[in-house]
Amino acid sequence: MTDTLKIAIAGLGTVGTATIGLLQAEPTHGGSGRTIELVAVSARDKSRERGVDLSGAAWFDDPVAMAEAPGADVFVELIGGEGGVALAAVEAALASGKAVVTANKALLAAHGMRLAALAEENRAPLLFEAAVAGGIPAIRTVRDSLAGIPITAVLGIMNGTCNYILTEMERGGRSFADCLADAQRLGYAEADPTFDVDGFDTAHKLAILSSIAFTTQIDADAVRVEGIRSIEPADLEAAAELGFRIKLLGIATMTAEGVDQRVHPTMVPRGSALAETSGVTNAVSIRGPAFGELVLSGPGAGGSATASAVVSDLTDLARGLAPSPLGRPSASLMPFRKAEASGHLGAYYVRLPIADRPGAFAALATRMAAEGISLEQIVQKTPHRPDHLPPLEEQTVILVTYPTSSAALARALADIEADGTIVRAPHVIPIAQTL
Ligand SMILES: NC(=O)c1ccc[n+]([C@@H]2O[C@H](COP(=O)([O-])OP(=O)(O)OC[C@H]3O[C@@H](n4cnc5c(N)ncnc54)[C@H](OP(=O)(O)O)[C@@H]3O)[C@@H](O)[C@H]2O)c1
Repeated sequence: MTDTLKIAIAGLGTVGTATIGLLQAEPTHGGSGRTIELVAVSARDKSRERGVDLSGAAWFDDPVAMAEAPGADVFVELIGGEGGVALAAVEAALASGKAVVTANKALLAAHGMRLAALAEENRAPLLFEAAVAGGIPAIRTVRDSLAGIPITAVLGIMNGTCNYILTEMERGGRSFADCLADAQRLGYAEADPTFDVDGFDTAHKLAILSSIAFTTQIDADAVRVEGIRSIEPADLEAAAELGFRIKLLGIATMTAEGVDQRVHPTMVPRGSALAETSGVTNAVSIRGPAFGELVLSGPGAGGSATASAVVSDLTDLARGLAPSPLGRPSASLMPFRKAEASGHLGAYYVRLPIADRPGAFAALATRMAAEGISLEQIVQKTPHRPDHLPPLEEQTVILVTYPTSSAALARALADIEADGTIVRAPHVIPIAQTL
């Protein structure tokens, strides 16, 4: 091993410049005794001032050419995007035998299996701690600290944008649209927030973490995804009254039928670590019979937090550590087997706008009973209306079920809708299972 680990960084945006800043502040890493030296960089605009010293680094307009060029031991991909130049550059770097460090969850969720095989074929490490939950060492904990220890579930708050919006909606009783606009003003949400608020970003991170936790192949298409656009202040108010907070969780569980991967708004009991994780903070819970529950929380995004995860991967490489990308040889990972959604058992919160007429309440209870669904709580709410307006011809009924199958609940709700007992579609939010 030489005294210096030479790195080339593609992407000089939020994470790229923060990584360079961290490395320049602490050039000798982790007691490895080796210096991490920046030898080349690539971005689109060479003339842009980056706020970090790039004087010793060769400039490449083309990240693929930089990935192929001799001189660097490690190619650091901080461009982003599922395919395009990021994918081409990572493939080129691995094919030329360079180690790759990336923060790119979209790339790994889509191509992780192929890239892991390419890395192994070329004996080139592929590390991506920053790709899941930013500054939280979630990958390392599951891959290394808990290696060989059975894990039954990995779940958590893995998108700071959504957690910020839900926290603000709860605090101020404000709408999703208002809080999204705030998040955009503060730089927590993109101009096009789809990727975050519709749950896809969480799904990518979950698929990567789930593969390592359950030693299965990555299958991001097998994640059932629902985002937070449908959450209304009424749900957050009801959640508070019932002792819950609403969080967008990514949940992967090992079941007898296969792996169940889901992203959806979830009622989480107040006082639990996940419920108390507010604002842009992330939290990852790992569960297993031997150790119970382990919760890691911290900054899930932001330049310096994400850069700290990139630098931790570089430090592993400087120390000569090179774990298999997915914790074990990719050919030995089990094919992904998706658990059927209808088999999922859990408790549910259901908000039903019911027609204000005699017998509606009883009709609803009858349909639930017909599907064998027991109700833990039933709360009837009369919406406040100013005196000058006529009373609404509907009531809101909130149900909390005991654990039931999602299929039975779907059948009961379809019957309730067909009966004309409700005036609009019901709103269902699963309740988080405790250990
Ligand atoms: N930001 C976070 O908090 C965070 C957290 C976790 C993970 N990540 C991941 O980290 C990666 C980088 O994110 P970021 O926020 O740092 O992105 P960013 O600020 O948008 O920076 C992207 C960089 O890539 C460069 N780039 C884009 N297209 C290129 C091309 N064709 N050739 C060469 N360079 C190109 C851009 O160059 P110019 O500057 O010249 O335009 C820019 O420097 C992404 O995969 C993201 O998902 C980010």
